[in-house]
Amino acid sequence: MSELKEKVAVVTGGNSGIGFSAAEQLVREGAKVVIFGRNAESLDKAATKLGSKAIAVQGDVANLADLDKLFATTRERFGHIDVLFVNAGIVEFAPIDQVDEAHFDRITDINLKGALFTVQKALPLLRDGASIIFNTSVVNQIGLPAASVYSATKAALRSLARTLATDLAPRKIRVNAVSPGLIRTPILSRTGLPEADQQAFGKQVSEQTPLARVGEPEEIASAVVFLAGQGSSYVNGAELAVDGGFAQV
Ligand SMILES: NC(=O)c1ccc[n+]([C@@H]2O[C@H](COP(=O)([O-])OP(=O)(O)OC[C@H]3O[C@@H](n4cnc5c(N)ncnc54)[C@H](OP(=O)(O)O)[C@@H]3O)[C@@H](O)[C@H]2O)c1
Repeated sequence: MSELKEKVAVVTGGNSGIGFSAAEQLVREGAKVVIFGRNAESLDKAATKLGSKAIAVQGDVANLADLDKLFATTRERFGHIDVLFVNAGIVEFAPIDQVDEAHFDRITDINLKGALFTVQKALPLLRDGASIIFNTSVVNQIGLPAASVYSATKAALRSLARTLATDLAPRKIRVNAVSPGLIRTPILSRTGLPEADQQAFGKQVSEQTPLARVGEPEEIASAVVFLAGQGSSYVNGAELAVDGGFAQV
């Protein structure tokens, strides 16, 4: 319980799913945690569950002024950052002939622009030797029908982990990615995909996964804690797949 004692972690999208689970495990390991998301109600609930070592900041990663607010609050409360989990993201599906500009802009604004500027704006607060972790996805390695824009943003994050590991090398900041398979979170229900279709998708992925099931948010969170801490001190520019083997075999 002391792997990250007194470290300061920022988790975008820390009010739901994988981000919330990561925030919980980071707190359990002794970190102080700042969570960030748009929905004030779920942020409040999440912060209450996380307890006195966590604070919540409301805002949109696609809005650079909101990112300024996130890091101004973090500076005021904690002074610096040791761990940055760049996790906020959305998924929407559209076959290529139905991709329109609004679909493209919504996904890239949050998943790519939001992620890149989250890192850029955190830089003054990141301590030398800090750890940055992007949340990518197995879809940057496989073709998933109707997911061209989403998958391209995740491939871009995989690339950013490599590039930023070199940009930030002089400061010994490590930059890695965690690549989840299908994980049980609200992300699919937010797309409006009918429950039966979500179940069918889960069944199909499970059948193609050596471990024969979908994953749980806690299983991604423990990989995030590993990439955040000293146990991964020589891991840099890498992507850790946590997908039950789905995209590995
Ligand atoms: N679940 C999976 O199967 C899976 C697989 C691979 C990768 N991932 C990735 O995991 C990450 C987390 O997803 P999840 O599955 O945990 O889904 P989730 O429960 O829907 O969580 C998404 C989080 O991102 C936040 N978010 C979305 N847009 C935002 C914005 N514009 N500004 C600030 N926060 C925003 C949401 O909060 P608000 O709505 O309050 O803003 C929420 O906290 C995503 O990047 C996703 O692509 C998920």
